[in-house]
Amino acid sequence: MVRRRIRGAFDFFDTVGRLPPLERQLLRLSHREGRVTLLQAAAAVGRSKNEVEAALESLVSQGLLSAGGFHNIRFYEIGLPTAAGVSQDRFPSGPSIPLVYHFNLLSDCRRTDAFRRAIAACVRQGDTVIDLGCGTGVLAMFAADAGATVIAVEADPMVAEAAEYFVRSNGYASRVRVVEADSRQLEDGIDADVIICEMLDTALIAELQVEVMNDAVKKWLKPDGHTIPQAAVTTAELVHADYKFSGMDFRLIHFEEYGARQSGPALSDAVEFHRVRFDQDNDVSIDTTIDMVPSRPCAVNGVRLCTSVALTDDIVAHGSPWFNPPLVLPFDDLEVKPSERVRLGLSYGLGAGFSSVRYSVSKQSQARARRGKRSK
Ligand SMILES: C[S@@+](CC[C@H](N)C(=O)[O-])C[C@H]1O[C@@H](n2cnc3c(N)ncnc32)[C@H](O)[C@@H]1O
Repeated sequence: MVRRRIRGAFDFFDTVGRLPPLERQLLRLSHREGRVTLLQAAAAVGRSKNEVEAALESLVSQGLLSAGGFHNIRFYEIGLPTAAGVSQDRFPSGPSIPLVYHFNLLSDCRRTDAFRRAIAACVRQGDTVIDLGCGTGVLAMFAADAGATVIAVEADPMVAEAAEYFVRSNGYASRVRVVEADSRQLEDGIDADVIICEMLDTALIAELQVEVMNDAVKKWLKPDGHTIPQAAVTTAELVHADYKFSGMDFRLIHFEEYGARQSGPALSDAVEFHRVRFDQDNDVSIDTTIDMVPSRPCAVNGVRLCTSVALTDDIVAHGSPWFNPPLVLPFDDLEVKPSERVRLGLSYGLGAGFSSVRYSVSKQSQARARRGKRSK
C-alpha cells in the first residue's frame, strides 16, 4: 500500500505563546473545563459574546479547539490538530466512517447494488478509475471487474489497511492499488476516465463529497470523463413527528433510520432546495429559505430532508438504511392550513457536519411569503 499522509510539524507551546491574550485566556479556560459553550465562555472572561465568538472560532481554525453542537447550541472543546485535514468527527455526523460500520455499508444491498450497476454501465475495458473514499475497496473491485485499472484512495489508516487486505485476499491486487491519503492532498498527474466517490450523506452535510469532488475533477478528470455519482438533489417537506418518550419531549435532529421512530407521511409537497452536478465546481455552503405549503389543516413540527442521487443518467438511488436516510429537523408545534406557508431558513457547510447547521422556522400568510420572495 502506498502511504501519502503528510504529517505537519506542530509545536503546541510555541503556538500558544504567540496567541493574543483573549485567545490564550479562552484556551486555558477550555483546558480547565474540558468543554465550554459560547455563553459560558463569555461570562467567564467578562467580554462580549461577539469578541469571544471570534476568538473561539480563531482557535478552532488553528486546530487548538474543536467545535461541536446540536440545534443552535455551539460548544468548544480541546481538539488535537489533524495533520491530514480530515475532521475527527465520526459517523454519522462527520466524514470519517470507522471500520466497524463498513459491514453495514456493504449490507445495504440497495446502495451497493446501485453502485455495482452504475459502475458496470459506465466503466469500459482499459479505463483508469479513481475511487475516492474506497472504504473496504468494494467499488474499486467492481470497477476492476469492468476492466479498469483502479487507484483506490482512503484517508482512514485502519480502513485503508483493511482495503489493502481485501483487495489482495479477493485476488484484485494487480488491478487495484490502494493509497492511504486524504484525496485533497494528492497531486495531479493521473488522467481518470471515471472518478467514483461515495462520500454521500443526507443533504451532503457530514461527508466531504462536494469538497473532495471539486478538487478531484479539477485535478484528474479527463475532458470526456465521467463521475459516479453524476448529481444529487435535496428536498424539504413538512412532517409531524412524535418526539415524546416516556412522557418527556426530546426534539432532536435525527435520521429516520437505525431503528428510529418514523414521522409518517409528508404534510406538504417536497420542495427541492439544492442540486449539484459532481463534474462541476460547486459551492460548499448553503444559505437558503424554503417555503412549504401545508397540504391540509394540520399540526407540523419537523422538516424532513431527503437526498436522491443520480449515479448515472438511468440509475437513481433514493434513501436506504446506510445511504442518505431521511433527516428530520425538529421545531415547536405549529398549527397550519393550506392558505399559509411554513418558511424554513437553513444554512450549513457542505461537509462541515451538524455543528454547522443553523435553521429557523416561521409561519407566513401566502401574500406575505410572496412579498418576501419578490423583495429578495
Ligand atoms: C461512506 S464510506 C464509503 C466506502 C466505500 N466506498 C463503499 O462504498 O463501501 C466513505 C469513505 O470515505 C473516507 N474518506 C472521508 N474523507 C476522505 C478524504 N478526504 N479522502 C479520502 N477518503 C476519505 C472515509 O474514511 C470512508 O471510509
